Amino acid sequence: MKISAVKGMKDVLPTAQGEDAPFNSRIWERILNAGREVLSRYGFELIHTPVLEESRLFARAVGEETDIVGKEMYAFEDRGGKVLALRPENTAGAVRAYVEQGLPMRDPVQRWWYFGPMFRRERPQRHRYRQFFQLGVESFGVAAPEEDVEILALARDLIEAVGLVGVELRVNSLGDEACRPGYLEVLRAYLEERRDRLCADCQRRIDRNPLRALDCKEPGCVEATRDAPASHEHLCDPCRQHFDRVLAGAAAMEIPYVLDARLVRGLDYYTRTAFEMTAQALGTGQQTAVCGGGRYDGLVKLLGGPPTPAIGFAMGVERIATLLAEAGGVPAASADLFLAFADPRGLEAAQRLARQARGRGLRTEMDLRGGKVSKQLGRADRRGARFAVVLGELEVQAGRARLKEMATGQETEVALDALVEEVWKRR
Ligand code: HAM
Repeated sequence: MKISAVKGMKDVLPTAQGEDAPFNSRIWERILNAGREVLSRYGFELIHTPVLEESRLFARAVGEETDIVGKEMYAFEDRGGKVLALRPENTAGAVRAYVEQGLPMRDPVQRWWYFGPMFRRERPQRHRYRQFFQLGVESFGVAAPEEDVEILALARDLIEAVGLVGVELRVNSLGDEACRPGYLEVLRAYLEERRDRLCADCQRRIDRNPLRALDCKEPGCVEATRDAPASHEHLCDPCRQHFDRVLAGAAAMEIPYVLDARLVRGLDYYTRTAFEMTAQALGTGQQTAVCGGGRYDGLVKLLGGPPTPAIGFAMGVERIATLLAEAGGVPAASADLFLAFADPRGLEAAQRLARQARGRGLRTEMDLRGGKVSKQLGRADRRGARFAVVLGELEVQAGRARLKEMATGQETEVALDALVEEVWKRR
C-alpha cells in the first residue's frame, strides 16, 4: 500500500529539486541560519508554542469573520469535548502564552521569534499550501513608533540576510478604536453607493467587514473601489502622529517603502501600522506577499491581559525558498573532509580522525558501508567534499597519508596527526 502526503502539505528534504526545489532543506537551512543570526543581533529570543490550541483562541484573536477562521481552519472536537484547532498563525498563541505566564505585569517587554508550521485549509495553488512554515517575530510592551521602525528595519535586514532582492515594503495605518469606527462608516457609505458593482462576497462585507472589500481581487471590485477613502487619511490625532513618526523614522533609516491605502491585512487584530513585503517575482496574483505584519495594541487585552502594545510580522518560508531556488538553484552538499578507508585498520584510523576533525569544527563524512575505495571517493565527490584522504594499513603504519584536494586533484603528503590542522588551515 502506498500512502501519499496530505494534499497541500509538502516534505522538505535535501533531495528535493526541479519543481520541488523550494522544498529543498538546504535552502531552508540557509534561511534559518541567516535569520537566526539577524534575530539574535536584534535581541529576539526563540519561542515554541503548541501547534494545537483551543479553537476559540483563533476565533477571538484573528476574528470570526476572517477567511482564516471562517473558512480555512482545521478544527475538530477532542475526545474530552474541547474544540481544538491546528494553528493557522502564531500571533494568537504567542499572546496567549504571554498573558498566561503573567508577563504583562512581571516583565512586559519581550522580543520573541519562532519558526514553525501553520495550517490553513486554503485551495492549494502555487505559493499557497495547507501546511506552510512561518519565520515570525512578536515584540511586546513598547508603544513608541520607533519600535515600529525597528521592526521594519528587522524585516528589511532579514530579507537581505537571506539574500532576496526585488522585495517591496508596503505600509499603511489602520487607525485604532478611536478613529477606525468613523473611517468604517465613511467606507461603508462609499461601498453602499457602489453596491451593484461589487461581487456577492463584498456586498456581504459592507456590513460585516467593509475593510475586506479593499482587499478583494475581483476585477469589478478593484475597479469600483479605485478611489475609495483611505484609512490613513481618516486617522485621529494620536494615530496620525504615530504614523508620521513611523514614516519619518523609516525614511531616516533609509528603509524604502510605498504607502499603500489598500493594504488592510486578512486578520482582525491589527491597529495602526500594518505592512507587507511583496515580491513581483512570485507573479501577479494574490500570493506575492513574503511577509505580513503590523501593530496589534488591542490583542493582549482582548485575550484577558491588561492593555499592552505589541507589534510583529511573519514571513512565508516556502515563498522565500521559491525565490531563492529560482535565483540560485539548489545548493550542493558541501563537506570539508571525506575519509575513505581500504581495510579494517584504515577504518579504525578514519573513525578516530573523523571524531577529531568534527571536534575541530570540520564537516567530516565517511561511507561506513566500506567497499571499493574508488566508490567511496565517488561519494566524496557527490557530497561536495573539499578534501579526501584514503587510509589503510600502509598509511597507519607510516603515520602519513595523501590529502587530496578534490577540485584540482592535487595531492599533498601529510602526517596523520597534522591532518586535521592542515585541512582546517586550507578549508
Ligand atoms: P499572514 O499575512 O496571514 O500574517 O501570513 C504571513 C505570511 O505567511 C504571508 O505573507 C505569506 O508569506 C505566508 N503565508 C500565509 N498563508 C500561506 C499559505 N497558505 N501558503 C504559503 N505561505 C503562506 C500572519 O500570519 C500574522 N500572524 C503575522 C503577524 C505576526 N502579525 C503580527 N505578528
